[in-house]
Parts: sequence; C-alpha cells; structure tokens
Amino acid sequence: MPSEQVQAALNLQITREIHSGYLYLSMAAYFEDLGLKGFAHWMRVQHREEENHGLMMYGYLNAAGGRVRLQEIEAPATEWPTPLAAFEEVLAHEQQVTAWIHEIVDLALAEKDHATANFLQWFVSEQVEEVATAKELHDTLKLLGNSGPSLLLLDRELAGRTFTVPAEATKWGVL
Ligand code: FEO
Repeated sequence: MPSEQVQAALNLQITREIHSGYLYLSMAAYFEDLGLKGFAHWMRVQHREEENHGLMMYGYLNAAGGRVRLQEIEAPATEWPTPLAAFEEVLAHEQQVTAWIHEIVDLALAEKDHATANFLQWFVSEQVEEVATAKELHDTLKLLGNSGPSLLLLDRELAGRTFTVPAEATKWGVL
C-alpha cells in the first residue's frame, strides 16, 4: 500500500487534475462566448482528458489499497483578454502539472514505492504530449495574432479533435 505521504500526494494530484478539467471547461465557455466553436470543442475534449487523469489516479489509489480523499476545487478564471492569453495559461498550466507529476515520481522512488512510480510513468509520457500540443497551439496563435480569418481556419481544425478513453485508463476502472 502507498505510504500516507504518497497517498496524500496522489490525492492532491487527483484534485489538481479535476481542477485542470474545470479550468479547461471554463475556457470552453469563454470560447463559446467568442463564437469559436472549434476552440470550445477542443477545450471540452481537454476537460474530458483531465477528468480521466483524475479518475485513473482514483482507480489506482483504490486498487493499491489506499484511500481516496477528495479536496476543495479552486474556482477557475472565466475571462481571458485574448485566445492567445488563454493558451499562454494552458501552456504554463501543463508545465506546472508536469513538475507536480515528477515530484510525486521522485517521492515514490525515494520510498521505494515502485508500483506508484510505475503507475505514474504513463503520466510522465502523457505530459510530454500535453506540453508539446499546448506549445504548438500557443505558438500558432502567436503567429496568427488577432486575425479573424486565420482564427476561423484554426477553429475549423480544432473542431475535429476526438476523445477516446485510453487503454491504460480502462485498467484503472475508467468507463
Ligand atoms: Fe492531466 Fe493536462 O494534465
């Protein structure tokens, strides 16, 4: 069973993942309001992914004999000055999440909790993708500036994003 300290770190991270989803759902609402339905759709898929990350940790902690204890979820911002500003926050947020995941891996390894360290390797890889995607969209938006026609083209592209529950998640009871 993970130590009390590892359980506390995983419980905190569950709340952070749910909060990440809540933040992206708030960004979806912002983009809906701007009439950028593709951006809103992309954020809603991101919301599902984050919820899924939290549920994977929930499933793992239960399977490992620990106790899930949910915590308060901070209210997200509801407005951003520009679409680029929203993606600046996405990028910074994902970099922060990466640092948090690495800290928990370090803690698990220091305690010789190989099961938890192994479980978290999926998240280590996932964060490389999450940061890369956020950076790509951030950089594209920076190039486009506030050009309406270009934003609409990107909006159409983002409308095509799909969500599927990863095979890794089903292992931990995610439906
Ligand atoms: Fe679950 Fe985007 O970090």
